Amino acid sequence: MSRIFFIALAAVVFVGAVIGGKAFFLNDPSRIKTVGTVNIGGPFSLVDHTGKAVTEKDYAGKYMLIYFGYTFCPDVCPTSLSIMGEALDMLTPEQLDNVVPIFVTVDPERDTSEVLAGYVPHFHEKMVGLTGAMKDIKAAAKVFKVFFAKANEDDPDGIYTMDHGSTTYLMGPEGTYAAHFSHGTPSKMMADKLAEFL
Ligand code: NI
Repeated sequence: MSRIFFIALAAVVFVGAVIGGKAFFLNDPSRIKTVGTVNIGGPFSLVDHTGKAVTEKDYAGKYMLIYFGYTFCPDVCPTSLSIMGEALDMLTPEQLDNVVPIFVTVDPERDTSEVLAGYVPHFHEKMVGLTGAMKDIKAAAKVFKVFFAKANEDDPDGIYTMDHGSTTYLMGPEGTYAAHFSHGTPSKMMADKLAEFL
């Protein structure tokens, strides 16, 4: 065997191993679950817009499409929730039956169950609004890795806003992460993605 041939053969075997290994790596589903950013979701204990105490167990068996925000939000939340509502309207009745859209307030001081009850139906008839004690909101935001903080606290009129993360999460029937949508995802794109799961 000539030296050149041997080197060429070794190169082919090496490249083949790399490509094969990469394909295996990308196709191995167990790899995906170990990615840190996908470790989202978990237990929560809140109150829905009808005043009923709920936990994540109340939604087990269904997908949860979940977003954190506040009703006083001038722009980002109404946009996100409108997109969510539009996407839900693109689903079949069977698909829609398999998902619970949830809006969790990060501003429980103003967003009582009553306030949420007057807000969430504007975006979708199925939408659930969740509020609760600030410590419980903080705990829920923590498991979903959603940042939020009060802003403009020194406003002379006492009108504060909330800074908050604007990612929408799709959680599977067992409460584990399925997909997420960054702010501004077109509703059709969201609907198509939802349809893959529901
Ligand atoms: Ni907002």
